[in-house]
Amino acid sequence: MIAIASDHGGFAMKTQLIAHLKDRGVDFEDLGCYSEASVDYPVYAEKAARGVAAGTYDRAVLICGTGIGMSMAANKIPGIRAALCADCYSAEMTRAHNDSNVLCLGGRTIGIELAKRILDIWLETPFSGLEKHARRIGLIAGLEE
Ligand code: RB5
Repeated sequence: MIAIASDHGGFAMKTQLIAHLKDRGVDFEDLGCYSEASVDYPVYAEKAARGVAAGTYDRAVLICGTGIGMSMAANKIPGIRAALCADCYSAEMTRAHNDSNVLCLGGRTIGIELAKRILDIWLETPFSGLEKHARRIGLIAGLEE
């Protein structure tokens, strides 16, 4: 089960990605927001990221205007490795190398077809499991206060 959430800047893209997830038969929970009325992205980033950290969700997708605010906020939660992706190569590598558990997208910076492709790649790519990558992820965890 994945969580998906956005602020107003990502709401339109979230609506389209939800339709895409339904088409693909991916289980998801929509944590808001639920309209284009202005909201604060850290609220939604925290809700989704805490859910991933607690094991309620396997992973989460967060969308704001640029994806930057969402990634900054999500990465404050211990155990979260949020990756802002605007290309397919990064989407693949951040799963294989970083075992990212949150994908951030910019609803105002990339088109919906690219976003769908990035999401598909990110959902389908497993962590490589290589020791060197696991070690580096451990080093990231060691930076948490
Ligand atoms: C909202 O206007 C915008 O700042 C937000 O969606 C996001 O881009 C922040 O990083």
